[in-house]
Amino acid sequence: MSFGFFKALIQAPTTVGAIWPSSPWLAKAMVSTSSIQSALSVVELGPGTGAFTGHILESLAPGAQFTAIEKSPDLARSVSRKFPNAKIIEGCATDLQNHLDSENIPRPSAILSGLPWAVFDQTLQCSILDQIHGALVEGGIFTTFAYYGPHRLRSGRRFRANLERIFKDVQRTPVVMQNFPPAFIYYCRR
Ligand SMILES: C[S@@+](CC[C@H](N)C(=O)[O-])C[C@H]1O[C@@H](n2cnc3c(N)ncnc32)[C@H](O)[C@@H]1O
Repeated sequence: MSFGFFKALIQAPTTVGAIWPSSPWLAKAMVSTSSIQSALSVVELGPGTGAFTGHILESLAPGAQFTAIEKSPDLARSVSRKFPNAKIIEGCATDLQNHLDSENIPRPSAILSGLPWAVFDQTLQCSILDQIHGALVEGGIFTTFAYYGPHRLRSGRRFRANLERIFKDVQRTPVVMQNFPPAFIYYCRR
């Protein structure tokens, strides 16, 4: 685990909401599920230390625009240093549409999330999911992961119900066993 992730976890455990950064296997599965190769504008929410970011950047179509929104100032600074050509906005996913409008960023056709949904209450989950749904182009895809096991708990079932209320089509991938903890991906079409 990188020092940046550990420091952010100690400083703001309920914002980071994970004990370990996602693995390259989960990152690859997120990217391949997101139809990034054909997207003109791609947004990542909660990049953290950049576990998904490098894989997303490598998969972008020529000329496609990438934007990440990270709430932790330390992690936003560190991921900007790691990927100096990427646009990293220090801000909150609840302001997604404002950030895109104020920076003249085209509406994305792919939004990928590393956000810790399990530590968000119902109001915050719904507020961010509404922002994501409103920002995506028609037919655009939102991808996010869930840890296998906790997804059966009440909070996990509530999150899935929120996805199904907001998106017309919600699917999930097989479990990525190499990730710690094992996780799968929800992919949702607007
Ligand atoms: C579990 S870490 C995930 C990092 C990385 N994507 C991964 O999968 O390893 C969650 C990240 O989401 C960020 N975050 C939490 N709430 C956020 C919010 N409301 N808006 C933007 N980022 C947020 C945290 O600061 C943290 O970097």
